[in-house]
Amino acid sequence: MSKTIYVLNGPNLNLLGKRQPEIYGSETLADVEQKVRARAASLGLEIEFFQSNHEGAIIDKIHEAREKAQGIIINPAAYTHTSVAILDALNAFEAPVVEVHISNVHKREAFRHHSYVSLRAEAVIAGMGTLGYQVALEYFA
Ligand code: DQA
Repeated sequence: MSKTIYVLNGPNLNLLGKRQPEIYGSETLADVEQKVRARAASLGLEIEFFQSNHEGAIIDKIHEAREKAQGIIINPAAYTHTSVAILDALNAFEAPVVEVHISNVHKREAFRHHSYVSLRAEAVIAGMGTLGYQVALEYFA
């Protein structure tokens, strides 16, 4: 049976490619999804790809993953730095979690240096651009 990996994206990532391209690059989230699906297929992984601007919707998806996923790749975007609720949801998920940031958050404003999600994540990837999602898939493969 192939593994299912949930790839979850937080607020404003629907604007990827249009939003601050000097920081986040010119690829859209649809481009990222397409590349993730192609790589996952070659690695024999099933993908559930999801983005929401709403904290509760992301939490609901993490709860769904408890029954359906063998791993989570999450870019919580700004909720990284604020959301105890997303941390709690991830703590209720039993398989590995990889946190991805497109930009190098440690090179940016001080408020981006702290991540609640990092308290839970097995691995953190930051600053590789959208390649970070591919590296996270390799981790699960
Ligand atoms: C981000 C970094 C966060 O600080 C920011 O709020 C984002 C995107 C990244 O992928 O680099 O929205 O998670």
